[in-house]
Amino acid sequence: MVCCVTGAGVIALLFIAYKFINILLRILGPYVFCKPIDLKKQAGANWAVVTGATDGIGKSYCFELAKRGFNIYLVSRTQSKLEQTKKEILQKHANIEVKIAVFDFKNPSPADYRKILAKLNEVEVGILINNVGMFFEYPDIIHRIAGGIDSLADVTTVNTLPPTLLSAGVLPQMVSRRAGIVVNISSGAGAIPIPQMSIYSAAKKYITWLTAILRKEYGHQGIIFQTIAPHKVSTNMSGNPDTSFFCPDSDSFAKSALNTIGNSSETTGYITHQLELELMTLLPEFLLNDFISKTGDSIRKTVLSRKEKSQ
Ligand SMILES: NC(=O)c1ccc[n+]([C@@H]2O[C@H](COP(=O)([O-])OP(=O)(O)OC[C@H]3O[C@@H](n4cnc5c(N)ncnc54)[C@H](OP(=O)(O)O)[C@@H]3O)[C@@H](O)[C@H]2O)c1
Repeated sequence: MVCCVTGAGVIALLFIAYKFINILLRILGPYVFCKPIDLKKQAGANWAVVTGATDGIGKSYCFELAKRGFNIYLVSRTQSKLEQTKKEILQKHANIEVKIAVFDFKNPSPADYRKILAKLNEVEVGILINNVGMFFEYPDIIHRIAGGIDSLADVTTVNTLPPTLLSAGVLPQMVSRRAGIVVNISSGAGAIPIPQMSIYSAAKKYITWLTAILRKEYGHQGIIFQTIAPHKVSTNMSGNPDTSFFCPDSDSFAKSALNTIGNSSETTGYITHQLELELMTLLPEFLLNDFISKTGDSIRKTVLSRKEKSQ
């Protein structure tokens, strides 16, 4: 009897140690222990395509990739912002080329995707950063969401179609070179089903799932597929909060996330976000759900009261 209890105790301790080591490896592995890989070699080509490239995380990815010697293809919806971003990149990195393409990703037309893909395939795409994303005006339950079913359709389309169709469209050239990198930007909101974030949370889970499938389909052909699932980063989408230990600016975020390519298939992109995720997953589900619901309520109240004041 004593022997059985001791045996069970040892197994339980080993199990806890195993879990703890895994958590430490996920936090420290890609951010502290592993050396960044040679992106140029892995990409096998000089162009990086970035969607949602004129602000926030996407723009920061562009500058960081330009710094590492890649030519940048900016894809976003506003011509003037694209031209301005191109100018800013070239002022800082005169040794590279920058191209721009206007595309509103609310547009789900396969015919229009064919046109943009034809343009992108005129260059040798080594890296594709599927960054563009869209959140609701504020969290709410699905039938009360601001903007109604138009908004639900847009959030579904903008978050899911670009990584699906752009990946499918540039993969042939990556496959023929047997090299390439595809980074799909998901969100911490996709890690668990989040009430009041409905389609956004579900769409971000779709991105994680899609990336894992593509990794299985193409990973053996020399192409890396990475999911980056950030927590809060100070950008327009998050309401430009002050930066803090858990909320980096987009430049620090993109630099950190790029350094994890090849060292982690799926990660948050930033060490304190990874710490936050691991702590959250240790919480009992009812506490986590309660915390998430209260956060959703508080964001909605803040946005609505700001709107009321501005009217
Ligand atoms: N910031 C965060 O805390 C956070 C957390 C988790 C995940 N993420 C994810 O990270 C990604 C980037 O977010 P962000 O915070 O950097 O966003 P952001 O600062 O709001 O920038 C969004 C970028 O996407 C472009 N864009 C927006 N809607 C578009 C559309 N319909 N068609 C074409 N381009 C469009 C914007 O161009 P215009 O300015 O012309 O509209 C802008 O360049 C998203 O996928 C988001 O879900 C962000």
